[in-house]
Amino acid sequence: MTNLLTYQVYEGVAVVSIDSPPVNALGIDVRQSIVEGFEQASTNADVHAIILACSGRTFFAGADIREFGTPAKPPILPEVIALIESSPKLTIAALHGTPLGGGLETALACHYRIAIAGTRMGLPEVKLGLLPGAGGTQKLPRLVGVPAALEIITSGRQIKASEALELGIIDRVCAGDDLLAEAINYARELVDQNAPRTLVLERNEKTAEHQGQTEIYDTFRAKNARRFRGFKSVENIIKAVQLAADLPYVQGLKRERELFTELQQSRDSLAQRHVFFAERESSKVPDIPKTTPVRPLQTVGIIGAGTMGGGIAMNFLNAGIPVTLLEQKQEALDQGIDVIRNNYQRSVKAGRMTKEVLEARLGLINPSLNYADLSSVDLIIEAVFETMEIKKAVFSSIDAVAKQGCILASNTSYLDLNEIASATSRPQDVIGLHFFSPANVMNLLEVVRGEHSDSDVINSGMRLAKTIGKTPVLSRVGWGFIANRVMKVRSFQTDNLILQGINPEIIDKVIYDYGFAMGPVAMKDLVGLDVLGRESKERTVESVLVEMERLGQKKNGGYYDYDQNRQKTLSAIAMEVIRNIAQEKGIEPVAADEEEILARLLYPIINEGAKVLDEGIALRSSDIDIACIKGYNWPVYKGGPMFWANSIGLKKVLEKLREFEQRFGSAFTPSPYLVRLVKDGKEF
Ligand code: CAA
Repeated sequence: MTNLLTYQVYEGVAVVSIDSPPVNALGIDVRQSIVEGFEQASTNADVHAIILACSGRTFFAGADIREFGTPAKPPILPEVIALIESSPKLTIAALHGTPLGGGLETALACHYRIAIAGTRMGLPEVKLGLLPGAGGTQKLPRLVGVPAALEIITSGRQIKASEALELGIIDRVCAGDDLLAEAINYARELVDQNAPRTLVLERNEKTAEHQGQTEIYDTFRAKNARRFRGFKSVENIIKAVQLAADLPYVQGLKRERELFTELQQSRDSLAQRHVFFAERESSKVPDIPKTTPVRPLQTVGIIGAGTMGGGIAMNFLNAGIPVTLLEQKQEALDQGIDVIRNNYQRSVKAGRMTKEVLEARLGLINPSLNYADLSSVDLIIEAVFETMEIKKAVFSSIDAVAKQGCILASNTSYLDLNEIASATSRPQDVIGLHFFSPANVMNLLEVVRGEHSDSDVINSGMRLAKTIGKTPVLSRVGWGFIANRVMKVRSFQTDNLILQGINPEIIDKVIYDYGFAMGPVAMKDLVGLDVLGRESKERTVESVLVEMERLGQKKNGGYYDYDQNRQKTLSAIAMEVIRNIAQEKGIEPVAADEEEILARLLYPIINEGAKVLDEGIALRSSDIDIACIKGYNWPVYKGGPMFWANSIGLKKVLEKLREFEQRFGSAFTPSPYLVRLVKDGKEF
């Protein structure tokens, strides 16, 4: 017997319980243990029912993702599932925690399922660029019908026990908190009633109505086209669900495996699996152990109720944490709170929030015009205008009122945090908490480590990110920190390409086709040309467009003209301005195909990432990937710039950068770190 298995028989009910921390992932040892348990129970004449359960924090949370890409060791999961299904006994899965992916598929092999309240189950493989490859696409439609299965598997969302019961995924929700005791009682009840032992794979009453239909899938594709764009796994999932309705189970299962294998070997899935682990890695700080204390976080003060401050506040309100929101003038304060209210109102209108919740969240705001009101909060976040003098003045005022032990955070995007901290008498309590716009939506939080920041302050910053549902990435102090710094070079190259006569529409197309939601030129128009060019003293395309009152989408159009439906067409006026500025600056037109445009826009990001690593600003290359994915919506199936660079081959990236350096100058000069990696035959 492996030491992961506990096997016990309680008056005719065998309990096969597995314990493999942290999440009972279905690795080889776990699979072997299930087989051992089932073999024992199935051959014991005194056993009438078998309960499959897990100890620890969750029922199996899926296949062991670390095993993907390594040779499969038998028994593979489909074999384990087939063994459970062939058991002559009545079988029940007892669920708690997060039965996900292969975990839920294992549960679907049992005749019945009971779950404790609070269980959240699902088939999240789409998030790893995969599909449920152990029968999930064939079984879920048999339980919940085709439309619900399409929605659940393509979204990968977690389903609460109560909804799972309604949908028919589980048969009972455990009333108390002793899952095992209730599962045993349930098993006895079922045995006593001689309850039917129908396997999910034998059922087809829910799929019959869609057999032979194609329209439902086409409609589903069309309705979600925008959301699904670029994700190859979604198409395979839709195909597999269709097979569940159209084919006998065994044939459908065989095709599901083929569709799964195709995805498992794809570069996209490799990238998404990289992102899965990168996201978990980014919250770890090597020199700050998890046991480092965390400072309390019961109340927060936010200085500045503008777009950023308001967005930041919403994160804490959503987490039930009261916010003292400070402004200089009543009018600005009222306006800021109105914006927050309107944002929530939109959620209410869309049915995602009740009016009561809206009022409860707004009720957590304590509006203030007085720094003294910040004297009792645990954390103060400054989100005021981005100039050093103002930031220092604000920090000096905070220092005068904040209680001992309060964390003092700046949301600065580019400024030197150490200089800001020097305006206080307690630089050890100062960190950067850099949110990305819109702050209530974007998932990235850069936690900036100042020269003097205490370990517990940094640890608290990393933890609070989790509290408000963000992914933290640690950054040292440096201009633009991580995400803004590396992405800024794309903006710079966009301007160069435009002036060299490359059509802005082509630039946008290249970036859109790569997988971003929007190209960089359209993005400029969205952000506002007046906002972008604020610091520039030079005469640029944007400064001229702003002089002409062309501010972008918000006023008169920018690079593009916009109709009432926000449909855009390239502006003849903007093209004229581009030609004039190029002439003034003596810039000659350059021809470039789409591949070259892409390389000119994105390879400098890789290069800048190499510099960020070399300077020790980021801890690891995967943190840069996470920063770009979570802060700038870099397509997740490319794995972020650094992973993408590895998949292209660093040698090729370096050669291209050298070629561009020759043709266009020092903006492309390769980072010495990149050069070293290539020389040593290494990757990021
Ligand atoms: N395989 C291997 N390791 C896993 C894992 C998995 N399926 N799921 C989680 N882990 C590891 C994490 O990497 C992490 O390790 P470290 O502590 O070393 O960083 C640890 O378990 C804890 O994970 P989290 O930090 O994410 O803990 P959490 O409590 O926040 O979340 C969870 C737990 C909801 C299970 C989350 O980890 C998760 O979503 N896991 C992935 C679930 C999943 O995608 N399952 C499907 C797998 S694919 C599949 O099953 C294919 C198939 O059909 C055969």
